[in-house]
Amino acid sequence: MSNSDTGPAPDPVLHIQDLNYSIRNRTLFKGLQLSVSAGESVAITGPSGSGKSTLLSSILGLIKPHDGSIRVTGAEITKLPSKQIAKLRSETIGTVFQFGELLPELSPLDNVALAALLSRSDRAGGYRQAQELLDELRVPSAETTEELSGGEHQRTAVARALINSPELILADEPTGALDPDATARIAELLFDLPRRRRCGLVLVTHDVEVAARADRVLRLEAGLLVPARVPEAVQA
Ligand SMILES: Nc1ncnc2c1ncn2[C@@H]1O[C@H](COP(=O)(O)OP(=O)(O)OP(=O)(O)O)[C@@H](O)[C@H]1O
Ligand SMILES: [Mg+2]
Repeated sequence: MSNSDTGPAPDPVLHIQDLNYSIRNRTLFKGLQLSVSAGESVAITGPSGSGKSTLLSSILGLIKPHDGSIRVTGAEITKLPSKQIAKLRSETIGTVFQFGELLPELSPLDNVALAALLSRSDRAGGYRQAQELLDELRVPSAETTEELSGGEHQRTAVARALINSPELILADEPTGALDPDATARIAELLFDLPRRRRCGLVLVTHDVEVAARADRVLRLEAGLLVPARVPEAVQA
């Protein structure tokens, strides 16, 4: 446990205060608070439709909350112009989703290098670093990403998320499409990142065993994030 469940973390990489957001007459966030510090992992659980993915979209600046503050490495994302949001996103946030962020027809190397090339112009350096990350995460070389196994695909997604050395990693059901073995390995890889790279990790999952690996487990309920009870059998 790196922080208590209440109060802001010291020098947080993510600091959300008093977030309010409704959609189609449903209140998703009602004064929601969250603080995540460098080196800390937070798992978010909660019923389907409670707003977990919407929360990640808000942190990415893709959705504008009605009011409240979202600071990513100190920058107020709710107030930045869209061009600066895109820059902040590509430089400081890495995302790992269940599917969708990798282009299936490109090679894993191209997929990972592309994320580097979108934020800087050193093409050779981007490719070199992409290959190093893929080697480190043991992704085999392949002509297209669609020919990878589920676990290899998600390791590629993790490599893509890491290529710009983000301060914050957001993962939305990153193990949702994997078998139990691959789930355990991807979860281990993800929860190791805050320790090894000093980034913050916010991971949304329905899997209690995956959630139990986080420093803190929170549940999105009635518009707020509340400490979740993790079954003792899973914690061990
Ligand atoms: N673009 C949209 N337009 C209208 N309603 C939306 C939109 N996006 C999300 N919603 C609604 O907001 C609510 C929260 O959706 P969200 O995807 O954040 O839930 P979730 O907690 O991630 O669910 P799950 O666990 O099933 O992924 C849902 O009721 C959903 O229908
Ligand atoms: Mg979701």
